[in-house]
Amino acid sequence: MAEKNQDRLKAQIISSSAEQTKALAGIIGARLQNGDILALSGELGSGKTCFTGGLALGLGIGEKYRITSPTFTLINEYPAKIKLYHFDIYRIKDYTDFEDLGYEEYFNGDGVVVIEWAEKIAEILPDDSFMITFEYLDENKRKIVMEGPAHRLKELMKDTKMEVV
Ligand SMILES: Nc1ncnc2c1ncn2[C@@H]1O[C@H](COP(=O)(O)OP(=O)(O)OP(=O)(O)O)[C@@H](O)[C@H]1O
Ligand SMILES: [Mg+2]
Repeated sequence: MAEKNQDRLKAQIISSSAEQTKALAGIIGARLQNGDILALSGELGSGKTCFTGGLALGLGIGEKYRITSPTFTLINEYPAKIKLYHFDIYRIKDYTDFEDLGYEEYFNGDGVVVIEWAEKIAEILPDDSFMITFEYLDENKRKIVMEGPAHRLKELMKDTKMEVV
């Protein structure tokens, strides 16, 4: 267990605008790989969907796809060289719902999985997931903390202003 934790790293940034959050996510999105899981958490309006929109651009998903939170379906799928599976699980109770709906099969996969309100399914998130938390500081400022496998996180945060904490 201790060894596993040593292999993880945490980095953070204060974003001063929605555009900055998108640009950050764009850099990260361009470096994602099939099978990556990004677990997003943070209160309503903290920037999870905004960040996901930036990821989509970075993955090469065209501007014609406006990323909105999937509500009735829980999941939206966007085509690209690396597919994006975007979940918003605000309305589910806990991980048992997620499993009952058969969604954990997306974890094995082809494509990048992004989950808003991922704290609800913390119990079943794979150990190598990236955990990203969004904190509302003021109208335009958000603290974004990203935690994940050290070697991957270092690569994802390169050329961004994220700092290891
Ligand atoms: N620095 C910032 N980063 C991200 N969004 C910001 C920032 N400053 C202002 N905003 C605004 O905050 C809002 C964030 O909304 P968004 O839908 O991304 O939140 P969310 O976390 O997905 O909320 P929900 O839980 O309702 O899905 C947007 O209107 C965006 O323009
Ligand atoms: Mg959202």
